[in-house]
Amino acid sequence: MASSKRYIYLIFALAVGLFFYQRNSSTEGFSKGKIASSLPPNPAWTIPASPLEQQQELKAIFASPFKFLGEGAQAYAFESSDGKYVLKFFKMRRFTPSLADHLCPHVVRRRLKNLNWVFNGYKIAYENFRKDTGLVFIHLAKTHDLQQMATIIDQQGQEHTIDLDQTEFVLQEKAELLFERLAKLYQKGDGQQAEQSIAAILELVKRRIDKGYADRDKGVSNNYGFVGDRAIQLDIGRLYKGTKERQFEHVQRRIQQWQEENYSLISEYSN
Ligand SMILES: Nc1ncnc2c1ncn2[C@@H]1O[C@H](COP(=O)(O)OP(=O)(O)O)[C@@H](O)[C@H]1O
Ligand SMILES: [Mg+2]
Repeated sequence: MASSKRYIYLIFALAVGLFFYQRNSSTEGFSKGKIASSLPPNPAWTIPASPLEQQQELKAIFASPFKFLGEGAQAYAFESSDGKYVLKFFKMRRFTPSLADHLCPHVVRRRLKNLNWVFNGYKIAYENFRKDTGLVFIHLAKTHDLQQMATIIDQQGQEHTIDLDQTEFVLQEKAELLFERLAKLYQKGDGQQAEQSIAAILELVKRRIDKGYADRDKGVSNNYGFVGDRAIQLDIGRLYKGTKERQFEHVQRRIQQWQEENYSLISEYSN
């Protein structure tokens, strides 16, 4: 009896320890640990080795540091010093079950499902919509042949060196977010260019749907943007092969809503 009581105490202490360990490791802000993973390279996420030309392009891009730009639920985004590229690292904790997670099988399932969703989305985009998503390179499976370090500067101004062979990441062209561009254009009195930009985004969405892909992410303000005058979808972590009702209308309606909310801006500058 005494020994079974001791056993219960031990389990309890272990659970409390794990709870605080997990809480600690999920505190705010970037850390190298949060983008590191023990994920073995998976052939499903591997892309063919880059041609020499691309290797040289990557070398040139990673020669300068990247500065913190923003973060979403799945990734941290860093901007190159020339403002042309965004380097995204994944919050791997969300994708890889820890030892403690195995106490709750549904948490394990959720994390693995999340990993599949996000990596699949980026792979689909890289293989089918490279131009429409501004993707330059994806690295979703560890390698040995990149032999490239990236220097990144976090929100606190602290510098980190990341071994890109050992880290899952994507490199994308930097975009101007859709509504920021529209606001700027309307303020300049260039309603025509604003209308053309809206049309370009809707064409982009239509191209994706026509090819048979849908997006589970309903966001518009942070998911679409422009590289020069080219519309791109910048958050593609929820892309999948399939159809979804009224997804075109959803984007269209969200843009109309923004126009209604910014009616004074639009009418003031269009006169
Ligand atoms: N290519 C990009 N150009 C400009 N900003 C970007 C780009 N990619 C990401 N961002 C910014 O970083 C944030 C997080 O990136 P995102 O890809 O949306 O990650 P998550 O999948 O976690 O939502 C975005 O909401 C956006 O503000
Ligand atoms: Mg996002």
